[in-house]
Amino acid sequence: RETKMKTKILLFFELLYVICSPAFPVSQIKENEDMQFAKVRTTDRPEEIDLNRMADKIREMQSFFGLEVTGELNHKTLDLMKQPRCGMPDVRSYSTFPRSPTWKKEDVTYRILNYTPDMLQADVEEAIARAFQLWSSVTPLRFTRVYGGQADIMISFASGFHGDFYSFDGPGGTLAHAYPPGSEIGGDAHFDEDENWTKFTTYNGFNLFLVAAHELGHSLGLGHSNVFGALMYPVYMAVDSRDYQLHQDDIDGIQALYGKQEAPTEMTPSKPPQRPEDCDPHLTFDAITTLRGETLFFKGSYVWRKSPYFSEIEHDTIFSFWPSLIAGFDAAYEVDKKDRVLFFKDDHYWAVSGYSIESGFPKPIQNLGFPTSVRKIDAAVHDESTRRTYFFVGNKYWSFNENTQSMERGYPRKIASDFQGISHPIDAALHKNGYFYFFHGSNQYEVDIKKKKLIRIMKSNSWFNC
Ligand SMILES: *[C@@H]1O[C@H](CO)[C@@H](O)[C@H](O)[C@H]1NC(C)=O
Ligand SMILES: [Zn+2]
Ligand SMILES: [Zn+2]
Repeated sequence: RETKMKTKILLFFELLYVICSPAFPVSQIKENEDMQFAKVRTTDRPEEIDLNRMADKIREMQSFFGLEVTGELNHKTLDLMKQPRCGMPDVRSYSTFPRSPTWKKEDVTYRILNYTPDMLQADVEEAIARAFQLWSSVTPLRFTRVYGGQADIMISFASGFHGDFYSFDGPGGTLAHAYPPGSEIGGDAHFDEDENWTKFTTYNGFNLFLVAAHELGHSLGLGHSNVFGALMYPVYMAVDSRDYQLHQDDIDGIQALYGKQEAPTEMTPSKPPQRPEDCDPHLTFDAITTLRGETLFFKGSYVWRKSPYFSEIEHDTIFSFWPSLIAGFDAAYEVDKKDRVLFFKDDHYWAVSGYSIESGFPKPIQNLGFPTSVRKIDAAVHDESTRRTYFFVGNKYWSFNENTQSMERGYPRKIASDFQGISHPIDAALHKNGYFYFFHGSNQYEVDIKKKKLIRIMKSNSWFNC
């Protein structure tokens, strides 16, 4: 019993170490000593470990991320700790470093010391330049790239120990870190070479532009923000980086340090698409699934959540549930005996249980038995009475046996030949109250499961009290 407890407490420290690595080398040394001390004590005499201090750290973190403040390492807190994130410390709303260090000039130089082999050099340069532009577009700052000698902001890729107090930690976990403005190492940004850096937002890497834009915020003097959706929020969010715009919280933060741009440019970047109105008669969905008794409707990064316990429809984003999933699902379904929801995007799928993404995902859809000619699926729906999941692709559908985890023989078949009255491809499908609902454009088709017969046609958003 004692051995088990030791293991548990050690694990505890390692996780906290990842999430609570502090900002400055000085406090880092102290923190390391504390950790070492605690670890030694933990190993020697588990009963003497300072649990109060740990509980305080957990409380601090829970309150920062807006979780219920319990001081206990519960599932939600642990899930959050495991998200890929920035290695800087956590503070409150938009924040600056203590004593607010800033560059005392408007012309700031940067230099790219080396490149990641993951990307073309031109793409690295573009990602970094765009990241700087994000900040220069709302401040009087001007950034100039230099090719030799000392620059204010030195940018480099490195793995493991790389000459400062913050060694990187291999794939995942800490992605990068940066130092606040100052001489020497001040302003420098380091990117963990053990990550896969990418030009676009993908499931198998981290978008360099998004991470660089965040780190350069630190290089200019910003700390972390607890405003969800702000660039300075410390958790990586796999958002689309085209037309990326700073959150108002980031703008407020950087303008508090440097003021506004004197002559605002004429260029107004295009706004990201807005959430459609619930009762818009043209509303369509990408995917729909049940999850623990609720129904989730997906479109782009938006989620509509219908709960049997509340009459109001709740509005969320995919990132508020699963920050590292890529928005724009093709299909989703729940296997409720396993408390598991599967999400499909292009030729990959993910399994989640509540807020946690199961390890080992994404997997290629060929693992489910699709031929390589199937590049994406349109919709999926599970029927627990037969333990079959139907996958819809174009005008055909496949039947997957959840018991044997294999595709059934004789498929794919034409949708129209088995589901009377359904002659279109399907955008999304839902199993609810003993019926299938097949969504096509702004309409949905209510189908009797046993008879596979069309009952009636309704508007897609008839679930939203319209
Ligand atoms: C890194 O990301 C790129 C772009 O998505 C991908 O093609 C490549 O396979 C990834 N490499 C690894 C090791 O995951
Ligand atoms: Zn950060
Ligand atoms: Zn470093």
